[in-house]
Amino acid sequence: MIIAVDGPTASGKGTIAKALAAHFGLPHLDTGLLYRAVGRQCLLDGGDPDDAVAALAACAFPESLLLDPELRSEATGGLASRVSVHPTVRRALYERQHAFATQPGGAVLDGRDIGTVIAPEAEAKLFVTASVEARAKRRYLEMHAQGREITLEAIAADLAARDERDRSRKDAPLVAARDAVPLDTSELKREEAIAAAIAAVEARLDQPAVT
Ligand code: DC
Repeated sequence: MIIAVDGPTASGKGTIAKALAAHFGLPHLDTGLLYRAVGRQCLLDGGDPDDAVAALAACAFPESLLLDPELRSEATGGLASRVSVHPTVRRALYERQHAFATQPGGAVLDGRDIGTVIAPEAEAKLFVTASVEARAKRRYLEMHAQGREITLEAIAADLAARDERDRSRKDAPLVAARDAVPLDTSELKREEAIAAAIAAVEARLDQPAVT
């Protein structure tokens, strides 16, 4: 079974995807981390993330980079959003994600285009959203727990800019798949969001696929 979890930054999709993977006993891939690694590598190379050639060269990042805690920073998230605009970068990362999704037994992947591009055949698709205010507050608490100094206003502005870039790019924009189940987590506690996601996947598995 393939489960696709898409949605904007800090919507709760990562937490939900991890919990679904644990619940259904499936491996999980956070695809945003791949784009973050490309953005970070581009910076380390001294390249311009808005330049398609520099961004594509950064797709050859070493595997060890995926463990770099700096990948989780807001700054790297912004770089990831910028390199992710280039179709060549998306193509370079496609195979790895597609192979993960189609491994025997299935998988859970979270990102922006899992249900639309990487695994349109996924049996269950969730599109996780939350208001900018709720997402900014969550990200703020997360950042402060990690000892990172950043204001709520700066986070909200960054989220809004990233949403706009992710939604308006031509190649694989952030958009819900036609057959995705929407899940708004603005008013939900962590455990409530996870329970709602599990229920949505179970309900989907009981239904015939949409063709
Ligand atoms: O989910 P995240 O915040 O870690 O993602 C960082 C950026 O990577 C996001 O702003 C856009 C890009 N991304 C993408 O274009 N497609 C994906 N499947 C995952 C992430």
